[in-house]
Order: sequence, then C-alpha cells, then structure tokens
Amino acid sequence: MNVYLNGAFMPIEEAKVPVLDRGFLFGDGVYEVIPVYARNAFRMRDHLQRLQHSLDGIRLPNPHSEEEWEAILDVLIAQLPLDDHYLYLHITRGVAKRDHPFPNPPVPPTVFVMSSPLSHPSAETIASGVACITVQDNRWLRCDIKAISLLPNVLMRQASIDAGCGEAILIRDDSFMTEGSASNIFMVKDDVLFAPPKDHLMLPGITYDVILELAAAHGIKAEIRKIMKEELFSADELILTSSTREVMPITSLDGQAIGSGKPGAMFAQLYPLYQTFKKEIMCK
Ligand code: PDD
Repeated sequence: MNVYLNGAFMPIEEAKVPVLDRGFLFGDGVYEVIPVYARNAFRMRDHLQRLQHSLDGIRLPNPHSEEEWEAILDVLIAQLPLDDHYLYLHITRGVAKRDHPFPNPPVPPTVFVMSSPLSHPSAETIASGVACITVQDNRWLRCDIKAISLLPNVLMRQASIDAGCGEAILIRDDSFMTEGSASNIFMVKDDVLFAPPKDHLMLPGITYDVILELAAAHGIKAEIRKIMKEELFSADELILTSSTREVMPITSLDGQAIGSGKPGAMFAQLYPLYQTFKKEIMCK
C-alpha cells in the first residue's frame, strides 16, 4: 500500500524524512484523521476545513488547495480494499537548521499522508461500554488546533490504560470537562444531550458535529454549555465520539457506575442513527 510524501506516492518503507524536520525536532506541525468507509471519505470537506483552521493556527500556509488535497486523497483511497480505513494527513514546517523561530526564508513544508485499517469498537464494547478515568487537562490553551505535539494526550491516554480503562476524560482547572484524550465527550441528563462548547480548549470534532446534527434532525433535545466535573458522576449517561471510535457508551468513571452502569437510552437511540447516517452517505 502506497503512502504520499512531498509530491510522490511510494511504499511506506521508502518514505523517509530528514532528522532536521521540524515535526521531529519541535512537534511543529498539524494533522488530520479522515475515516474512509468502503472507499468513501467521511465528511472530507469538513476535515479539510479543520485542517485549514489548524494550519492557520500555527501560521503555516496550506501547501494544497482543497482540489489538490482531494486529488491526492483520491489516489490513496483508490488503492484501498473495501473494508474501512482512515487517512492520516500530517504537515510540518519542513526541514531546517534547528532553531526555534520559523525558518527565514521559509522552507517547503513536509506533507505526508498514509492510510491505516479502521478497527471499529467490538460488539462487546458497544454492549458493555467503556470505563474511563478523569485526569487533569494540563495541555496548552489552543486545543482547537489539531497539533502533532501530542505528548500530554499520549500520557493521559496511557494513564487510562494503566488504570484498566479505555479513555481519559480531561478536567480543566479542577472544574469543568473539556474532552477525552483523543475524543469528544457528551453528557446525558433527564433526556437532554449536553455538549461542551467548541472553544479553544477542545478539538472541534467532526463526529461531535454529526451527533448534534442527528440529535436536531430526530427531535433529541441538545444543549451546548460547560459541563462541570461533579455533574459527570450524576449523569444518566456519558457518550464518547471520535472518527476512529465512532460513538461509544461510557459506563463507569473513576470506578463509579454512570447511570445504571449499562449503555443508556440516549446511546441506544444515537448509535443506530449514526450507523444509518454513515451508510446513507456512503451510498450517495
Ligand atoms: N482524534 N478530541 C481530540 C483531542 C482528538 O484527538 C479527537 C480525534 C477528537 C474527535 O474528533 P473527530 O470526531 O473529528 O475524530 C476530539 C483522532 C481520531 C486521532 O488523533 O487519532
């Protein structure tokens, strides 16, 4: 399976980046993850727009127009088998002498795209839900940028694995919930779906948008507002979303059962809606 690196398609073993790449030295770059279902990219436009937002956030000119991106992605998608994959797009500020400021004059960015198989949550996980822990959100204040410098997210996700859990829910200032280490989090209380506001403290998830659109289209009451840490423990349900994990029920937090300790009614409604929506899009 070929990958794309700086204008050429090649086997991954041949894709090499110099050690002076600013992505390697400084984590100076951004990325995107786009699910591909049966060779159909899911919400490609939205992902490319979010990529533009991330590039703007780090003051890196977009190396490609939307049409050029689509042409590159189409070549990679065409080589995929029919089962589900995701495209990983990675752009860094390029290769230059190691110095913190932007290279002056600018150097060409490094542009890398690969595909990987998408493994969906198992039927067992959907039936039983995932256990989560809360952790302190100690990231910077521009979490709306999908930056490749993911060290805090890596450490938080590992902390959840070490605790025998599936995700870490991030709490900012010991006060309110922002998101998961690699996912967005919704809360359900008294049949209302609550979502935290898309501000600079969380990644504006594409799946988050889809869930809110589905809620609006199917008469599910939704409210966007700050969600406080204590509220999480008395929630009826907690729900996790991401491009790679889709929609998943969270059934315990820091060892305490959420709601009945089983996936709840809101999840039971949203999950099939999401699956149907995915299938409809793919048939277009
Ligand atoms: N991560 N918040 C964070 C911090 C994330 O890393 C992700 C996704 C999301 C969900 O966004 P979306 O619905 O657009 O996937 C929220 C991807 C999957 C990753 O880093 O692999």
